[in-house]
Amino acid sequence: MRLFALSDIHVDYPANARWVDALSSVDHRDDTLILAGDLTEDRRLLAWCLQRFVSKFRQVLFVPGNHDLWVRRDPDIDCSLRKFDEVLSIAADAGAWMQPRMHQDSLVVPLLGWYDYSFGAPCDELRAMWMDYRACRWPDALDAGQVTQHFLRMNPGVLPNGARRVVTFSHFLPRIDLIPFFVPRAMRRLDPVLGSDGIEQQLRALGADLHVYGHSHINRRVSIDGVVYVNNAFGYPQEGSIAARALLALDDELN
Ligand SMILES: [Fe+2]
Repeated sequence: MRLFALSDIHVDYPANARWVDALSSVDHRDDTLILAGDLTEDRRLLAWCLQRFVSKFRQVLFVPGNHDLWVRRDPDIDCSLRKFDEVLSIAADAGAWMQPRMHQDSLVVPLLGWYDYSFGAPCDELRAMWMDYRACRWPDALDAGQVTQHFLRMNPGVLPNGARRVVTFSHFLPRIDLIPFFVPRAMRRLDPVLGSDGIEQQLRALGADLHVYGHSHINRRVSIDGVVYVNNAFGYPQEGSIAARALLALDDELN
């Protein structure tokens, strides 16, 4: 009965999909998996990936990332909020959970989100290079802050009593100081699109002991003001130096 974390599996890369396919179908039958977003932009691949994980784990909890809401290649969907609705039903059909679930005596809570520039204002260079600005489409007049609020409002405000530990997880970063000091200055122009202070406010209000996040593709474990933050992104095939490209067990963090 172990709890594992993984994010940013990006199964659009065949090597990553092969890794998912090759995961043991026996070893994790009693285990819980947190999947913190960015599986794929392709709906059929998303269904396949979730089904594969669900077939191997006792329970899988999931939130979508930005890539999962891209609509650039899908002629049937021209709105990322509609894509989100599709993702909800794909996850439900696959048997993955997007609601809080118990793992032993810990409550695991998915937190939706987006980025709202609370980590900084986007520069022209970022606006030109960041794919979400072209691959996502939002209903008229919804800006990034409103998109973020839309998703944050869907998160639980209170939790049932009885859990010894609370584990929250989001795709997006809840705080910008999770980016380590060694990240070069040129990469810091991405800060505005990494997450939202609103996620941090929510996880603190929920009394989180442990928070799993994705999106940055930089594996990290750090404790800040009583909460342990963990990133275990699988990442792109070329990112072996900043991503372990393996499941990470969280049980030691819960004892
Ligand atoms: Fe992402």
